[in-house]
Parts: sequence; C-alpha cells; structure tokens
Amino acid sequence: MKLFPDNFLWGGAVAANQCEGAWEADGKKESICDHLTAGSRAKNRVFTSKILPDESYPSHVAVDFYHRYKEDIALFAEMGFKVFRLSIAWSRIFPNGDDEIPNEEGLKFYDRVFDECLKYGIEPMVTLSHFEIPYHLVKEYQGFSDRKVIDCFERYVRCVMTRYKDKVKYWLTFNEINFATMPMGNLEVLGIMNRENDEVANPLDDINLRFQALHHVFLASARAVIAAKEINPDFKVGCMIAHITMYPLTCRPEDMLLLQELDHIINDFCADVQVKGRYPGYALRYLEEKGVNLTFEPGDEAVLRKGCVDFYSFSYYMSNCVTTEEGHTTTLGNLLGGVKNPYLEATQWGWQVDPKGLLYTLNKIHDRYQVPIFIVENGLGAVDVRDENGCIHDDYRINYLRQHICEMEKAIHNKVDLFGYTVWSALDIVSSGTGEMKKRYGFIYVDKDDEGNGTMERFKKKSFYWYKKVIESNGGDL
Ligand code: BG6
Repeated sequence: MKLFPDNFLWGGAVAANQCEGAWEADGKKESICDHLTAGSRAKNRVFTSKILPDESYPSHVAVDFYHRYKEDIALFAEMGFKVFRLSIAWSRIFPNGDDEIPNEEGLKFYDRVFDECLKYGIEPMVTLSHFEIPYHLVKEYQGFSDRKVIDCFERYVRCVMTRYKDKVKYWLTFNEINFATMPMGNLEVLGIMNRENDEVANPLDDINLRFQALHHVFLASARAVIAAKEINPDFKVGCMIAHITMYPLTCRPEDMLLLQELDHIINDFCADVQVKGRYPGYALRYLEEKGVNLTFEPGDEAVLRKGCVDFYSFSYYMSNCVTTEEGHTTTLGNLLGGVKNPYLEATQWGWQVDPKGLLYTLNKIHDRYQVPIFIVENGLGAVDVRDENGCIHDDYRINYLRQHICEMEKAIHNKVDLFGYTVWSALDIVSSGTGEMKKRYGFIYVDKDDEGNGTMERFKKKSFYWYKKVIESNGGDL
C-alpha cells in the first residue's frame, strides 16, 4: 500500500550552534550557547558569563559547517533530501541583538547556504531561534524577560524573512519553546541568567520572571507569524514543541491525573497558545496556583489571536512514565527524565526508545489541533565506531528510524495530516544536552572527538545508504 503522499518532505535537521562553528567569523558575536562548556552524561554543561581560557566551548568550532556547507549539502542531496532544516544564528545577523543595521556578511552566508540547497532542489526550513539569543541581550536585558527584546526579535525576523522571501518558505519560530515551562528553559529559550554569580551563571529559577518571559516569547512568535504573512503570504510558519510523551505508571486515578497535569503544562500549554491563539484555562489556573502574576499589556491578546501558526512541528525521541508513588527507578530523557517504563529499552544515554509512542503522539496532536503536522526531530544518539575499513555499521540507528517511520505510516493511515520528517541529525554535530561529539545522530560521520582531535573529514554511514533508499522509494522500502 502506498501511504506517504508524493510530496512528503523527507530530510534531516541541524542547528547553527551545534554545527556551524566560526563563532566570531565575519562580524558574528557571541550567542548564549557560545558560553556553554562541554559536558557529558555524568557532568552537566555549565554556562560561564565570561569565556574562560581553560574551558572548552563546543559551539566555537563545532563541525565547521560554516566553511564546509557545500560538501555537506552535496551529501544531503546525494541522499535525496527534499528538505533541510537548519537555524539562523541571530547573532550573525544582528551581532548584539539590538543593533539598528544587520551584518551583511552574516546575511550573505545564509544566501550562499540557501542557494546551495535550492541548486539541488532541497527546500530549506529555518528555525529562527534554536537556543541562539545574542549574548548581549542576555547580559543587558535578561533576555526575553524584558519586553524590548520582542522588538529586537521582530526586527531580526523581518530582516531575514524579507531577505530570503524567495528562497525559504518554511519557518519555525522558537525551538522547543516548551522548555521554558521548566526551570532549565531559562537560559536556552528565554535568555535569563542569574546575575548573582559572575563566573558560573546557571540560573536560579524565578518562576514569575520565567513565565513573564515566556509570555514575551509567545508575543515574539505571534509577531513573527504576522510579519511572515505580510512579507510573503505563501510562507508557512510552525511552532516547535519538544513532545515529552508520558504514560501513567499505574492505573491509579492519581497517576492518571498527574499525567494529565504534566501533559497540559509541559506539552500542551505552549502549543495551545501558538496554535489556538489564547491561554488555556488550565494554564491560567496553574499560574495562579504558583503565584505567578503575568503582566498582559493592552493588545497582547489580539496579537496572540492574530499570530497563530500554520502547522505544528515537534521533536520526538522517547517517552517516560509518571507516578505519584515514591521509590521507582528513574530514567533520563530529552529535557526531562521520568520513571522507568518496564516495557521499553533505553539508549546509551538512558533515553527510552518508544516507536509506538510516536503513533500515540501523532494521533493526539491531530485530535487536539487539526492542523498539518511536521516531525522536525527524531533520531538516535549513539557511539559509532569506524571499522578497519573506515565503515560505520549503524544498524541500531537504522532499526530505530525504521520503527518510527512504520508508526508514521500508521498515523497517515489514520488520516493524520503529516507532511514531513527531518531526522536529527543530518550529519554528526555537537550534542545540545551534553556538548559531546561522541553522542552521534548523523547519517554522516564527522571525524572529530570530544577533545577536538580529528580531521573533520566526512564519512557515509550505513544509515546514509539506507535513508537514500527510503527517500527514493517514498517510504516504501524500509
Ligand atoms: C533537541 C534539540 O532537544 O534534542 C536539539 O532541539 C538536540 O538541539 C536534540 O541536539 C538531541 O539532544 P542531545 O542533547 O542528545 O543533543
């Protein structure tokens, strides 16, 4: 049976701070992620307010996509990518974030990247903010906690949308915006840092500030959608949610209610605002209970209503269990850990692999929103080893992807309007959570280790050839 529509968008994804490197090239200035040190599964990454000489900062060199984009895009084209999801580093375009004039060299870089994609018929999909707030905005304004930063974001968005209006059609506003419903989202999404300590500035959570900043991010996202429609009515703009799929560990009603509460706040709240254009009742109740006193200015509600996104995009890697009972084994995960599910295996980084959870999630999103859906991240982080012939036999990655694609097929069979899939990641890049190179997701191996050794040469993994076949057969040959 032929299930994937003919124009289904198969591809891969990356983020600027995880692949580009060249962190100070051609007028770019620091962004927030340029201040994040390398970590590991056992050691958290640390945000330092100054660049310390003895620390290593993985984004500074990353995998040098800035200079190697031609070679990389040629490899994506060889796999048959229809779409390539990447992000623009805001601080390449407006180095301080609040500059009046954009940096022409930064704009030219993305011109070259998009032209290269289009040369091969690859549609670029652009994330406007993938944890990439200019550091100056963090330092001077406490990021989005200051309403003025909405104007800075809108200026940046209008600039890039106007410049690339004939090159890019698909835009995402804020990567994994729902990170901000949890304390760890302070830095990456909102750009709020703790000013108490000069050296290491991981945030202290001020819940009022965090949700006020999130409100400003909702407005910034809505204003980006409004701008998009003015600049090119054919633009399609999506939200980007890290969907943390959860199950109740037991059938005790208390577990079910806990699940519903967490699902609402972590998964549904941001998308409800961005897709439906208003704060849902349960979120208002939650904020009130937490003592959060949001400042809404006149006109805010109208902006949220007008700036609804066209489609729902999300990342999906794993699922977790939740329970009110104490004493259960816990597990790690994307953004958030949870209780271990006895029926699921986990990756080397402790993320539970759950392809059926993807079907459940797609059905849920479709039922709730009734808008087109795009899976913009899904993939397996693993240690890959090159054998004596230089080959990488990543059958574990092929199995992971195959199982998830099978569930996507079932969702399409259910009439879920799924129109694309970008695997995380198109090539090996720096891990966002740990800053490691050895947590690899790509179809293309990059010769670089955690200490920065290696030639940066690119090698095709076994999954490269497999994915090429999947795309060629439009999902028919898995
Ligand atoms: C998502 C992010 O959370 O997960 C990516 O959008 C990230 O930037 C990906 O790389 C995988 O997470 P990690 O921590 O394994 O790199």
